[in-house]
Amino acid sequence: MTLHSQDFLVSRGDLRRAEWRTQPVQALKDGDILVKIDHFAFTANNITYGVFGQAMGYWNFFPAPEGLGRIPVWGFGNVVESRHPGVAVGERLYGYFPMSSYLVIEADRASPASLIDKAEHRAALAAVYNNYQRVSNDAGHTTEIEPAQAILRPLFMTSFVIDDFLEDNGFFGAKQVILSSASSKTSLGLAFALKHAARKGIEIIGLTSDANKVFVENTGYYDKVVTYDAIGTLAKDTAVFVDMAGGGSVRAAIHNHFAEALAYSCSVGGTHWEDREIHEALPGPKPTLFFAPSQIKKRHTDWGPGELDKRVAGVWTAFLADVAGWLKVSEGVGPAAVEAIYFEVLEGRARPEQGHMARIEA
Ligand SMILES: NC(=O)c1ccc[n+]([C@@H]2O[C@H](COP(=O)([O-])OP(=O)(O)OC[C@H]3O[C@@H](n4cnc5c(N)ncnc54)[C@H](OP(=O)(O)O)[C@@H]3O)[C@@H](O)[C@H]2O)c1
Repeated sequence: MTLHSQDFLVSRGDLRRAEWRTQPVQALKDGDILVKIDHFAFTANNITYGVFGQAMGYWNFFPAPEGLGRIPVWGFGNVVESRHPGVAVGERLYGYFPMSSYLVIEADRASPASLIDKAEHRAALAAVYNNYQRVSNDAGHTTEIEPAQAILRPLFMTSFVIDDFLEDNGFFGAKQVILSSASSKTSLGLAFALKHAARKGIEIIGLTSDANKVFVENTGYYDKVVTYDAIGTLAKDTAVFVDMAGGGSVRAAIHNHFAEALAYSCSVGGTHWEDREIHEALPGPKPTLFFAPSQIKKRHTDWGPGELDKRVAGVWTAFLADVAGWLKVSEGVGPAAVEAIYFEVLEGRARPEQGHMARIEA
């Protein structure tokens, strides 16, 4: 019997055009495994994969018909067929999947902890995305932890590493760190990491929209929360800007307000994906794209094997305990529910406390 996969496809040129297609699952070759994708998280980060699909290669992970793209997501799946001697049917994996019901993985480098997909179309892309954790072999893995892991863990690594990068650079001499899209889970993770590390003399300021201000204040992660239209009220002390929103107007407002008092402008995300007008020749430093793998590599060299993971784990555990107080996880089941989540997040209608999980097939 031929299995069929339901694939959620979007137009590469217009993320508002989306459709489902049912396609036969390809036959396995020696070494392949077939994973039935169980459930996955969906946040603005996944929309950013689509926005930068062409520019940064995110469309290359999961091939799609001409002009269409398959948005990558972080989630869990079960091995339902295996032609790899070291991977058993029934194993559960965590990693990077398409919004589809099945994925064929060309399994390689299988260790007790992980394996990789060595498919040629993925080979040029960052290794972190091609790695699958064999959670069935992980004594610390529980079903209960899966939503928080899928929703927050990929984002939190970046949050932690930005805090570390800023500390490593003496906060560029700044007295305040200003985060845009303060309500995003990546910014919340960074604000938490900054507070957890109790960085002396550094004020943590969150910028957000009116609708999300009270939620952001109530987390207690920021020293001050300011709406985008009040950027002009911020004290012109030396500042570092960590830009999760990537919007042209917020960036211009920050650069124009702080000008030479802006010590560093760190470009991380693109939640304000429809406001990407680039303002040339802004005052202050040129925005620099943050590349987490560089800092991770540096710390592996500085600290030796295992130390970075140990440090991340300490703050992650504290963060997880804290988010239990505000994160509201829910799961959409079936294609219509998955599509509704996609559009809710795309249009910026999702509440920041919402943790969306999605399951294509019950
Ligand atoms: N470079 C990296 O390595 C890296 C790693 C992780 C994350 N990131 C980026 O960080 C960003 C945050 O991701 P996340 O998953 O943490 O986001 P999230 O939790 O889903 O963020 C939701 C928030 O983003 C803003 N937002 C979302 N959609 C919007 C829309 N259509 N229009 C206007 N505002 C919108 C709103 O915040 P406000 O109202 O507060 O603006 C909203 O509360 C993404 O762009 C992601 O790609 C980058």
